[in-house]
Amino acid sequence: MSGRQRKVVIIGTGGIGRRHIRGYLATGRAALTVVEPHAARRAAVVEEFAPAGAAARLEDVDLAAHDLAVICTPGHLHLPMIHACAEARLPFLVEKPLAVTLEGVDEAIAAVERAGILARVGFIRRIAPEVQALRRQIADGRIGALKLVYVNASQNFPLYRPDYRETYYSRPEMGGGAILDAASHSFDLLISLLGEPVTVSAMYDRMVLEGSETEDTCLISIRFASGAMANLTINQFQRRNVACSEFIGTGGNLQLDHATLSFADDDSGHWSQSRDFMEGMVPMQAHQARFTIQADTMLDALDGRPDPLATLPEARTNLALALAAKRSWQERRFIDLAGREAAA
Ligand SMILES: NC(=O)c1ccc[n+]([C@@H]2O[C@H](COP(=O)([O-])OP(=O)(O)OC[C@H]3O[C@@H](n4cnc5c(N)ncnc54)[C@H](O)[C@@H]3O)[C@@H](O)[C@H]2O)c1
Repeated sequence: MSGRQRKVVIIGTGGIGRRHIRGYLATGRAALTVVEPHAARRAAVVEEFAPAGAAARLEDVDLAAHDLAVICTPGHLHLPMIHACAEARLPFLVEKPLAVTLEGVDEAIAAVERAGILARVGFIRRIAPEVQALRRQIADGRIGALKLVYVNASQNFPLYRPDYRETYYSRPEMGGGAILDAASHSFDLLISLLGEPVTVSAMYDRMVLEGSETEDTCLISIRFASGAMANLTINQFQRRNVACSEFIGTGGNLQLDHATLSFADDDSGHWSQSRDFMEGMVPMQAHQARFTIQADTMLDALDGRPDPLATLPEARTNLALALAAKRSWQERRFIDLAGREAAA
C-alpha cells in the first residue's frame, strides 16, 4: 500500500457521490476535488467535507493533473465523461450502469483501451468480503458444479431515496428503474460467477411507486452459456429489506442473506455453517463500509495491485442483458443474447 496521497476527482455529488466522498476520505489516502453543477449541493459538500477543490463544470478541472476520477453522474452522462478521462489519460471508476443504451459503448471502451488506463465500474458488491468468500468457495468446488441461482433483492426504495421522483431513478432514459438501476447489481454477481448470459426473459411493471416513469418490480429468468440458470425477483416497495441469493450446486448450497454467508450439503433443512461478514451493522451501514473498501481497492489498483472490480467489457455484457430483459417483456418473447440481437 502506497503512503502517497492520490488526487481524486469526484464527478457528481448526489446520493452516490457523497458515499464515494466518505469512502475516499476514510482511506486517508486521497485529496479530493468535487465537480457539481448544482450550486447548493456543491456548497453543502464543500461545507461538510472541505475538499481540496470544487468546480461547477468538468471542463474547469485539469483532469490530467489528477490520479483518478470517480464518475458519479446519472447513467446517460457516463459515456462523455469516460471519453474525457480517456483523452486526459486519467484512470477512473464509473458508477453503474455503464450507459443507458449500447450506442457509443464500444467506441468508449476502445478509447479507454487506446489510452491504456485503469477503468472499473462501480458494482459495489464485488469487493464485499462476503461476496469474495462466496466466489472463493464456489471456485474451490465446495458446492460442486453451480447450476442454479435464485435472487430476491427487494426493499422499500423511497425510504432510502425519498427524493426518487426528482432523480434519474424515475426516468428510463436516465438509467432508472428496477432493471437498469437495481437488477444490474445482481446481473454483475451472476455474470462474475456464471459467465456469459445467452437467453433472457422478463416481466416488469410499475406496481406501487408514484411519480416515476420506471418499473419498480421485475421478474427475470436468465440462461448462461454453461447451461446454468438464474431467476431474479426485485420489488422496490416492500417493507422488509431483503437481499437474499441462493446458489445451488451438484454437491451443496450456499446462501448469501445480506452479508451472511451460509452453507449446507444435507437434507436437514438447516444451514450447517453461517457467518455474518458485517456483524452488528444494519444494511445501510454495511453499504457505506463497502465504499471505503472499494476506494482502497481502486487506490491499490493504481499502485498495480490486482483487483476484483468489474471491467468495462463485463459492464457492457451487463447492460446488454438489462436492455434485452426490457425488450423481452415489451415484445413478449425470450431474447437471445448471442450474436446479432445482442448488438441491437
Ligand atoms: N453503486 C451503487 O450502489 C449505486 C447506488 C445508487 C446510484 N448509483 C449510480 O450512481 C449514479 C448517480 O446516482 P445518484 O443516486 O448519485 O444520483 P443523484 O441524482 O443523486 O446525483 C447525481 C449528481 O450528478 C450531478 N451532475 C449532473 N450532471 C453533472 C455534470 N455534467 N457534471 C458533474 N455532476 C453532474 C447532479 O447535479 C447530481 O448531484 C447513477 O449511475 C446510479 O445508477 C450507484
